[in-house]
Amino acid sequence: MATILGIESTCDETAAAVVVDGKRVLGERIASQAEDFAAWGGVVPELAARGHVDALPGLPLAVLDDAGIAPHHLDAIAVAAWPGLIGSLLCGVTCAKTLAAAFDRPLIAVDHIRAHVAAIHLGAETVRYPLVALVASGGHSHYYRCEGPGDMRLLGGTIDDAAGEAFDKAAAILDLGYPGGPRIDELAEGGDPEAFRFPRSFLGDDEVRLSFAGLKTSLLYRVRGHQGRGPLDLGGRRVEDACASFRAAVVDCLIGKLALAARRAGCREVAIAGGVACNRELRRRFAGLCHTEGWEGHLPAPRHCGDNAAMVAALGAFMFERGEFAGLDLEAVPTGGAGRRAKAEG
Ligand code: KG4
Ligand code: ZN
Repeated sequence: MATILGIESTCDETAAAVVVDGKRVLGERIASQAEDFAAWGGVVPELAARGHVDALPGLPLAVLDDAGIAPHHLDAIAVAAWPGLIGSLLCGVTCAKTLAAAFDRPLIAVDHIRAHVAAIHLGAETVRYPLVALVASGGHSHYYRCEGPGDMRLLGGTIDDAAGEAFDKAAAILDLGYPGGPRIDELAEGGDPEAFRFPRSFLGDDEVRLSFAGLKTSLLYRVRGHQGRGPLDLGGRRVEDACASFRAAVVDCLIGKLALAARRAGCREVAIAGGVACNRELRRRFAGLCHTEGWEGHLPAPRHCGDNAAMVAALGAFMFERGEFAGLDLEAVPTGGAGRRAKAEG
């Protein structure tokens, strides 16, 4: 199969990777701006774009060096062209077009959400389809039935916040800084998941849907005080308890609806991808679900769950085999992608 250079710049990570056969990583680098945004409490789009300008095209050129691959040995250059922040996307797309023209290699336009799922091929010998995948990230929490790499049909998902967004907002409420997901996960390891009883919206119903708005409000009221109840004293192990209880509620919903989606779709192959798939409790519960049901579970390594370029190159390799190329007139699309284009069923 093909040797692909992947480029990712949809949000605040600039990344490049060289992947062979859609699964073997020869080299990869990620320049994250997450620490720069800690002081802002979130990503500032204009600053993120400037960060990409600083990192490109040096980062992909360095990765080619790391991998020991000369440009003429590449079969194609794949870039995440949607969805994302428009300024950030433009940097990666412009860089990919320039390299494609300079190296005389074909260009492949990759959907960032579909690429998250394709990360399950990295380091894996065989992945059988069809499978049901949950993509849980900062902007996305949706379930798909996948017929092959990148071939995804939306089954349902969140009606308000994404799971990662809920973690980040919970961390802000608890004054834990940005990005909040990893921090909450870390503190939760030392807390009691039953200390607080937080809501699990829709968990008992028969629809593949999620909602985290009520959970977030419930944490806010509990921490700040509400209807005669005073603010929570976050001393002792109360922060750990709040993190563990919040994490348990999010994970219950994500896993409960994954089980429903897989049963409905009649799939015994299941996957979780996206930044939230780094979550330790989610990984444990996923392993438990697959064990109990006798399902085959696919979970990328943590470094390939968050935004990375190996996933872009992996999906690029399958698209290369199918002859799905883009022209040098490729445009970045902020709102496109699997979440919006695919039609939801059930
Ligand atoms: O996939 P990703 O890197 O970027 C997007 O495409 O959005 O996901 C980032 C999200 C952030 O909201 C971050 O807080 C969350 O993933 N995240 C986690 C963990 N690690 C990252 N959430 C919960 N537990 C974690 N360990
Ligand atoms: Zn992502």
